[in-house]
Amino acid sequence: MVSSGAQRRSLHGQWSSRLTFILALSGSAVGLGNIWKFPYIAGVNGGGAFVLVYLICVFGIGLPIMISEILIGRRGRRNPVSTMSFLGEEETGNKHWRIVGLLGVVASFLILSYYSVVAGWALAYVFEAGSGTLVGIDAEGASHKFDGLTGNWFISGLWHSLFIILTVFVVARGVEHGLEKAVRILMPALVFLLFILLGYSMIEGNFSEALIFLFAPKFSDLSSEGILSALGHAFFTLSIGMGAVMAYGAYLSSEASIIKTSIAVVMMDTAIAILAGLVIFPIVFAHGLDPAEGPGLIFQTIPIAFGQLPGGRIIATVFFLLLTFAAWTSGIALMESPVAWLMETTGLERRKTAIFVGIAIWMLGLLSVLSFNELSDFELLWGTFFDSFDYLTANIMLPLGGFAIAIFSGWFMSANSTSDEIDASVDGVYHMWRISARFIAPVAVLLIFLNAIGIV
Ligand code: PFF
Repeated sequence: MVSSGAQRRSLHGQWSSRLTFILALSGSAVGLGNIWKFPYIAGVNGGGAFVLVYLICVFGIGLPIMISEILIGRRGRRNPVSTMSFLGEEETGNKHWRIVGLLGVVASFLILSYYSVVAGWALAYVFEAGSGTLVGIDAEGASHKFDGLTGNWFISGLWHSLFIILTVFVVARGVEHGLEKAVRILMPALVFLLFILLGYSMIEGNFSEALIFLFAPKFSDLSSEGILSALGHAFFTLSIGMGAVMAYGAYLSSEASIIKTSIAVVMMDTAIAILAGLVIFPIVFAHGLDPAEGPGLIFQTIPIAFGQLPGGRIIATVFFLLLTFAAWTSGIALMESPVAWLMETTGLERRKTAIFVGIAIWMLGLLSVLSFNELSDFELLWGTFFDSFDYLTANIMLPLGGFAIAIFSGWFMSANSTSDEIDASVDGVYHMWRISARFIAPVAVLLIFLNAIGIV
């Protein structure tokens, strides 16, 4: 007889309540992806049409895959690699499904290596803002400051190191401790500050131009690469396609509703990204900046706003602090799956494993640090190390992982198992999910891939 997820217990403990799980999952989802990456890639890809495709990807592909990932995690109740191998065996007699979990572990590892570098920039800006150097800054000064930071490998390397240490610190103690409180207080605070900034942008920025840029789709501006980026970002921002959500799902109690939780997290994540866009682009247009500026976009716009607001010094400090916290809760999620996997395979204790994984990720991250200075001319397949790690993970590995997760949950798991995990309290919801997991999500991912490589 197939035992239900309800009878298994995770080796790593369990969330104290559904709210904690929602908080932890949102903590993982809301991060640099929403506030740093979304505005930057929306800008690079021409705005409106990209945003529309991104929204379609989030709700049409991301949401069903998030549901799949949580249900797989909760049913397996192990780290993503063992869960995929265990459920693969249980449902299909084939353990090779563990490759999907392994792909996710590798993706987490690669993502955290460059994510930590950007988080390091945010951390550096806490101190810049606190020491008053951003007060009254103009567009040129802000660009100069950003280039000064990223151009100096030693300084940006130090901030990267500090962020890794902070992340290892939490993961070494186990994810439940502290995470709950941090997310419960800090996330609303971040949203509150974004609203203050929104007020500034509406009054002082060029709000109407920003609205047109973000919401009036001009499809001629969107390339097939842009569509792939929108898809990739949907995965990145929701933290799906890599087992991170699966790892968290493993600690979820069997009573909690997977569907409601996923909808709440996806809506919150999307709202925060859009809010960030509405804050940043009015400033971009009011100051004649280039929306396609690239990874420095928020570091060159947000300081201008704070530089002019009364009390800007304090608010700017708090803002970058909260951004760092948002990055931190995501970094923790990124580190959790490689650590949980290594612990279970090697039998090493959590603390040692976390330190070991942290050092490895730190070393790899140095390549991204150097991508903005000594190695800025060194091109791999998709640009610098930094750009290539980003492209490889977000645009290739995550969609591929998501595809496999959808196929596994839709075609290989029995309807008995999946309906067991998904509360069918609202009629039709289960079927909608199943149709998405079997057809809509995988076909859409496939088409976008084929389109990007020029086949369709
Ligand atoms: N979703 C995070 C963000 O938008 O910043 C990034 C991320 C975190 C991706 C955790 C993957 C993950 F496992």
